[in-house]
Amino acid sequence: MDFKRNILITGGAGFIGSHVVRLFVNKYPDYHIINLDKLTYAGNLATLVDIENKPNYSFVKADICDFETILNIYSKYNIDAVIHLAAESHVDRSIKDPFTFAQTNVMGTLALLQAAKEMWKTPYTNNRFYHISTDEVYGTLEFDGTFFTEETSYDPHSPYSASKASSDHFVRAFYDTYGLPTIVTNCSNNYGPYQFPEKLIPLFINNIRHYKPLPVYGKGENVRDWLYVEDHARAIDLIFHKGKIADTYNIGGFNEWTNIDLIKVIIKTVDRLLGNPEGTSDSLITYVTDRAGHDLRYAIDSNKLKNELGWEPSLQFEEGIEKTVKWYLDNQSWMDNVTSGDYQEYYQKMYQDK
Ligand code: NAD
Ligand code: TYD
Repeated sequence: MDFKRNILITGGAGFIGSHVVRLFVNKYPDYHIINLDKLTYAGNLATLVDIENKPNYSFVKADICDFETILNIYSKYNIDAVIHLAAESHVDRSIKDPFTFAQTNVMGTLALLQAAKEMWKTPYTNNRFYHISTDEVYGTLEFDGTFFTEETSYDPHSPYSASKASSDHFVRAFYDTYGLPTIVTNCSNNYGPYQFPEKLIPLFINNIRHYKPLPVYGKGENVRDWLYVEDHARAIDLIFHKGKIADTYNIGGFNEWTNIDLIKVIIKTVDRLLGNPEGTSDSLITYVTDRAGHDLRYAIDSNKLKNELGWEPSLQFEEGIEKTVKWYLDNQSWMDNVTSGDYQEYYQKMYQDK
């Protein structure tokens, strides 16, 4: 079958990538979606069983750092556009193992860019290289009501954010140097179904369910700006189709929470949905040593995206958290599946170190 477009989505068996793949496969039957993923601990095909047999979907297990393989994939599938999400994404892991982050996030992105440059023909009329990045590249804010805008200077503090910042620079350099049609977006913290339970929200839902301690770093005063993952996927769809080449868009929910306030909402919601009396799990809160270099506050100004392309978050946070907690409670088998094996050992060690 001839497809209108052949789009390579990297990292599609991870959290955000799986939502983007699902959205594109279902919404655009005339696009061929090729999901490329190495399936590290963070990637799991159980996340995409609902679409795995669709005629416009293919999965390729590969490493984005393997340049020759990437070239072959571009050629075999006649790739005309890339939406790049594959990455090492957890700050705590980056503190323990920065090399893997530099390798995957920087060298992997470079391999994808170089392959695009070699395979695509100027003037790149139907091509697009869309790189998904994070607000963490901007560094940290004080409690002063300011926001990260697209003009904020990069100031990354963790090995994770430093590697993402570096990959963003490479993407922009490929536009400046070779005219490769690139776009970069920087998004705030995502939450929702299918997030690997080492990140705050799914980890805490799972721990409350099993009556395990909830490790709050430092005083729990750090602030994050939370966006429902399907709203991020919608923004990616819009920007992929309508965004300006060489431009940057910030994506965020204008939805700031201190960690401790967010944790209290999660505890209350889980207890209510499990039928526990209010307060049952409050005593699980356990203050532990702070994360090294812990950024105090992230807050995204997404007005450019709203004004230029008309995107806004669709879900109120209360509704999003309710849906999310329900999903994890109803999908314990997914949770058991992704947390079996190596992860148990890793997590126990992380927690002992705290
Ligand atoms: P995730 O860790 O859930 O998924 C990452 C996916 O990439 C996994 O499926 C993994 O197997 C795959 N992967 C890792 N290394 C690979 C390699 N070498 N080759 C091929 N595949 C590889 O991450 P996520 O939270 O879904 O984040 C996706 C992207 O969005 C990342 O680039 C991240 O920096 C960015 N981002 C995430 C957030 C967030 O809150 N989670 C916010 C803003 C931006
Ligand atoms: P996380 O989900 O790791 O995302 P990020 O570090 O990319 O923002 O963490 C969100 C916030 O929650 C962050 O301020 C660190 C804090 N946190 C804890 O307090 N305890 C935990 O066990 C985890 C995983 C995170």
